[in-house]
Amino acid sequence: MSLKAKIEIDGKVLEYPVIEGSEKEKAIDIAKLRADTGCITIDHGFLNTGSCASAITFLDGELGILRYRGYPIEQLAEKSTFIEVAYLLNWGNLPTQAELASFEKKVASYSKLPEYITRMIELFPKTAHPMAIASSVTVALSAHYPELNNPNPTKEQKDEIFALLLGQFKIITAAIQRVTTGQPLVASNPALSYTEDFMSMMGMKASKDVAKALDVLLILHADHEQNCSTSTVRVVGSSNASVFASISAGIDALWGPLHGGANQEVLEMLEEISNAGGDYKKALERAKDKNDTFKLMGFGHRVYKNFDPRAKIIKKACDTVLAQLGVKDPYLDIAKGLEQTALADDYFKSRNLYPNVDFYSGIIYRALGIPTNMFTVMFALGRMPGWLAQWKEMRETKETKISRPRQVYTGATTREYTDLGKR
Ligand SMILES: CC(C)(COP(=O)(O)OP(=O)(O)OC[C@H]1O[C@@H](n2cnc3c(N)ncnc32)[C@H](O)[C@@H]1OP(=O)(O)O)[C@@H](O)C(=O)NCCC(=O)NCCS
Repeated sequence: MSLKAKIEIDGKVLEYPVIEGSEKEKAIDIAKLRADTGCITIDHGFLNTGSCASAITFLDGELGILRYRGYPIEQLAEKSTFIEVAYLLNWGNLPTQAELASFEKKVASYSKLPEYITRMIELFPKTAHPMAIASSVTVALSAHYPELNNPNPTKEQKDEIFALLLGQFKIITAAIQRVTTGQPLVASNPALSYTEDFMSMMGMKASKDVAKALDVLLILHADHEQNCSTSTVRVVGSSNASVFASISAGIDALWGPLHGGANQEVLEMLEEISNAGGDYKKALERAKDKNDTFKLMGFGHRVYKNFDPRAKIIKKACDTVLAQLGVKDPYLDIAKGLEQTALADDYFKSRNLYPNVDFYSGIIYRALGIPTNMFTVMFALGRMPGWLAQWKEMRETKETKISRPRQVYTGATTREYTDLGKR
């Protein structure tokens, strides 16, 4: 029997359908509420609002579950590769060997940036934040592929968009890091795997184990349902803006320190604590002080209120990378001390604040020699398949309408205009 929800307003009782997801999550469909009653719903920050139905990623914040297309993140991190996970997110199933080989070849075929994109990266002032460059050159790519700006691409065009943005954004990320650190560009080598080619373009020499650890990091970032940047991609795309504009907007949303920008902030926080003598307890006291705006970066999450399953895997990868590279990082000791003390502290316990995906990822990037201000671009590189898969799903859903929330107006009521001279 289909569920219904009853809403009573001013003595009038109305019934609304309840939609149930495949994991038994329930949502009241209030689309007709305003027409029936004149009321809208309000939900600051969308804590309780579903913006769409999606078959891509499932997460349960209370149980610490994350699955892409039904596959647990732990299994994908252990057994799969980033490029295979990208395929899975976009097309819904794991590829056969032939499908995977053909997809890898297609992504690798985008082995060069258009000349003007490289020049744009070079023209930015050295003070530019890499996320500003990443977002600008991504939207600038639209000029090179005018036929792909159509909001309703053909199936072949959608496949091309997916492969080209994965391929080109890998080269863009490496080019930004090389140019902003004053180093010559390294050409892409289509014979290498996606992650190995990326590492080679970044000028990193790494063992198979370290390449695997970086690949795992990309897998863990690949999608996270309707987070801030993914919702941005969907909102911008819902206006029929091009995929390049939509993804560029997603990169901008990711830049914020409450979202992807947190990975840079975590490292800067660890650096500050280390420079001040390593006393992390002071930082914890500041994070608890309501008169201080300081937050423990890399802690807390909108949906995970028990643990972030990605953080568990990253912590392990962090130990592997540091051991493999023979790096002893004092920041890791500070991070582990912070985590242990916070997890035993009532403030953090009572608010269900746990390390999130960004808490340990920066230590891995640092060990690999990636500059701190590049960390969020690394996140964007990982999130690219998720953004693109969600964009495609949105474009293919017949219920998609332009995203246009309402508001509750709280400003002045009508008043007469006073001439300038009389004010
Ligand atoms: C991720 C984040 C934005 C989630 O925000 P949210 O779901 O809106 O949760 P709230 O900001 O309402 O936090 C709930 C409570 O915990 C506190 N809190 C949340 N994160 C905190 C942190 N990192 N340090 C200290 N206190 C924190 C809030 O002050 C609030 O306290 P209160 O109930 O006394 O007012 C938030 O936890 C945060 O800013 N974390 C640090 C940034 C970060 O790591 N972001 C990456 C996310 S992957």
